[in-house]
Amino acid sequence: MATAAYRGEIFHLRGDPAAGAEAIGHHADGLIVVEDGEIAACGDFVAESQRLPDDTAITHYESEMIVPGFVDAHIHFPQVDIIGAYGARLMDWLERYTFPSEMAFADAAHAAEVAEIFLDELLRNGTTSALVFATVHKTSVDALFTAAAARNMRLVAGKVLMDRNAPAALLQSPEQGDRESRELIRAWHGKGRLGYAVTPRFAPTSTAEQLALAGQLMREHDGLLMQTHLSENPDEICAVAELFPEAHDYLDVYDRAGLVTDRSVFAHGIHLSDREFGRLGEAGAAIAFCPTSNLFLGSGLFKLAKSEASGITVSLGTDVGAGTSFSAFQTMNEAYKVGQLAGAGPDAFKLFYLATLAGAKALKSESRIGNLAPGKEADFLILDPAATPLLKRRMAACTSLEERLFVLVTLGDDRAVKHTYVAGKLAHSRED
Ligand code: GUN
Ligand code: ZN
Repeated sequence: MATAAYRGEIFHLRGDPAAGAEAIGHHADGLIVVEDGEIAACGDFVAESQRLPDDTAITHYESEMIVPGFVDAHIHFPQVDIIGAYGARLMDWLERYTFPSEMAFADAAHAAEVAEIFLDELLRNGTTSALVFATVHKTSVDALFTAAAARNMRLVAGKVLMDRNAPAALLQSPEQGDRESRELIRAWHGKGRLGYAVTPRFAPTSTAEQLALAGQLMREHDGLLMQTHLSENPDEICAVAELFPEAHDYLDVYDRAGLVTDRSVFAHGIHLSDREFGRLGEAGAAIAFCPTSNLFLGSGLFKLAKSEASGITVSLGTDVGAGTSFSAFQTMNEAYKVGQLAGAGPDAFKLFYLATLAGAKALKSESRIGNLAPGKEADFLILDPAATPLLKRRMAACTSLEERLFVLVTLGDDRAVKHTYVAGKLAHSRED
């Protein structure tokens, strides 16, 4: 049995900090013990070190912070090369930048190259798990899962389903999309730490027939997730109303296909009606709040408080490439600002909750990841709170954990991620 121990300041969330201070796990001088890729113990150094076998090697991080790996609940791996594309809103941005970029993934070599870059970038930013859109090409999913398996990452992904309103090269019949999804589920779902997500892109690019087949896939397989986009932009919502006149509203299009369940993760959900909020909460569905994307595309301001009050599981997504950063810090930073515009931004504990345990909940993986509780997989980060001269100076003026975390949210990025551990193994080290 391989045992390793890491000493340092530890911070993680045991639950939603909105429920009370017991949710905040903090050990100023802590120890985590890792055995066979899992957390065997997590607590105060003095107590935990007494239980360690004498010969256990302890790595001591004297001025760093040990936190769980981040979970990105919504990201597109084929959009790495269109981050920061100027001057468009959603529907125009899809036509001008996104669809042309995704067409290149018909080439397996290109998909394999981008999969490596994409996963390395996640790990550089401390993101150890993600729910990922590939393209319509089956090879794009094979490439991503192959690269994720090599890194032993807990990753959920799926092949995009589109059968209308996109370039012909990206369209497939409902039957072909269904057949290829089934092949991918058989090949990858539940293999190691990988999971499959049925992935209709969004209502405008699928017929009711394709959405119904996606619903059937969900019913026929245990443990799948469903990911799609919902109510991101006013023009998108008008298009959905025209394409599906029989539906009560946007969410109802998915509901009629059996796609609104507690295994559904909807990206955005910015312009929802009260009925849609209520229905999402009733179903136990999740929303991925993607603030950098929502601001970049001018899509609107997500209602975090109302979503949570409706019983919806809210997590954070970068939504790269409409999102402008792979960094969970920068995503939390923008989530705070969106909250400020709505009245009051979430505090640092809440922001870290959204970026870790809430993401694990959206991915239905909270028994495996999301914090450092014993029994969970050992996905954790060594953060350097003095990674830049400004961070170092600002940190020196902080007087509480909460203040230090909030400064990390405001000033942090990939430079603050010194090491990323995946299932107990060192997977990334920042080059100084
Ligand atoms: N809606 C449908 N497809 C997409 C996409 O790729 N990105 C975003 N942000 N919204 C979408
Ligand atoms: Zn998206």
